[in-house]
Amino acid sequence: MVKKKEVPLHRHSIWYYFGGMTLFLFTVQVVTGILLLLYYRPSSENAFESVQFIITEVKFGWLIRSIHSWSANLMIATLFIHMFSVFFLRAYYPPREITWLSGVFLLFIVICFGFSGYLLPWNKLAFFATKVGTEIAGVVPVVGRPILRFLRGGDDVTGATLTRFFGFHVAVLPATATVFIAVHVLLVQMHGMSVPPKLLGQPVKKMKFVPNFLLRDLIGWILAIGVLAALAALFPWELGEKADAFASAPAGIKPEWYFLFMFQTLKLIPAKIMGFDGEVLGIMAFNVVAVLLFIVPFVDRSDNRRRRLIFNLLGVLALLYIVVLTIVGYVT
Ligand code: HEM
Repeated sequence: MVKKKEVPLHRHSIWYYFGGMTLFLFTVQVVTGILLLLYYRPSSENAFESVQFIITEVKFGWLIRSIHSWSANLMIATLFIHMFSVFFLRAYYPPREITWLSGVFLLFIVICFGFSGYLLPWNKLAFFATKVGTEIAGVVPVVGRPILRFLRGGDDVTGATLTRFFGFHVAVLPATATVFIAVHVLLVQMHGMSVPPKLLGQPVKKMKFVPNFLLRDLIGWILAIGVLAALAALFPWELGEKADAFASAPAGIKPEWYFLFMFQTLKLIPAKIMGFDGEVLGIMAFNVVAVLLFIVPFVDRSDNRRRRLIFNLLGVLALLYIVVLTIVGYVT
């Protein structure tokens, strides 16, 4: 099956590299994560000190930790690029609906990886970011409170939260991600790469996946190793101060960049909208968007000029919204 696979060549072919790049960075995460596990200790008494030990005493420990953190961020960036590119190329048209669906699950899994991993060093920033993040989940009517207690392992962020997040980060999420990645990649193999609808009916050149395209993928991965090594060595990931539940939250605390657009939205939204709590409405709106993401391939199933325009406009607006609010969140 793999031997027969061919990749269409056209002016948008560059976007076919981003799924493979995300997969490569995921592998980097697995390898560096296992290495970190050799020394990391998941308790509120030991976590911070064990990370301190990794970056000061263990040979190349600082580099492995730095690569794990940088690669996590790059992976989320390539994942967003991959998702938006398959959206604009309409790669979710039949028969690829389930490929898209498994992709949306992977998006949420990867975001959960980021959120759970952030707390593990048990430093001040992570502690308060987790407090704020779980508090936001707790605001949702009816299910919010049980979700908050489930995530925190109680009413507050404590050692129990850390142990829980560790379990999610190194067991639940990797196992789920492996299943979804297997399904996703298998489906891609079964269906072959899509050709954008605009080019259907026209003669499209093709390149063999093995070895030609794979070798090109490989060049991208070698470049990614270079970028990762440079970032990790030149800008080693900070550890900061140990978390202290009794200290006050640092001023201007912000979440990781990939949550900033949502965080900023909740900050800008008025406290009351037509008598309803603004924050609750904001969170509900994000939930609606999440559901809409799942159903994209079932509402947009074939190409026509009007629908193409509407969906392109929606995609561009979403992209602009994310970029602008991330920048605003970063600079304010
Ligand atoms: C861990 C996350 C992910 C990994 C490792 C991954 C991996 C891949 C790979 C290797 C391919 C084939 C090459 C390519 O088209 O780039 C692919 C294709 C595809 N992916 Fe993903 N992906 C991920 C997340 C997503 C997300 C979030 C979506 C959308 C919501 C998505 C939707 C698709 C679709 C529709 C295709 C078929 C593309 C085509 O046939 O042209 N993927 N993915």
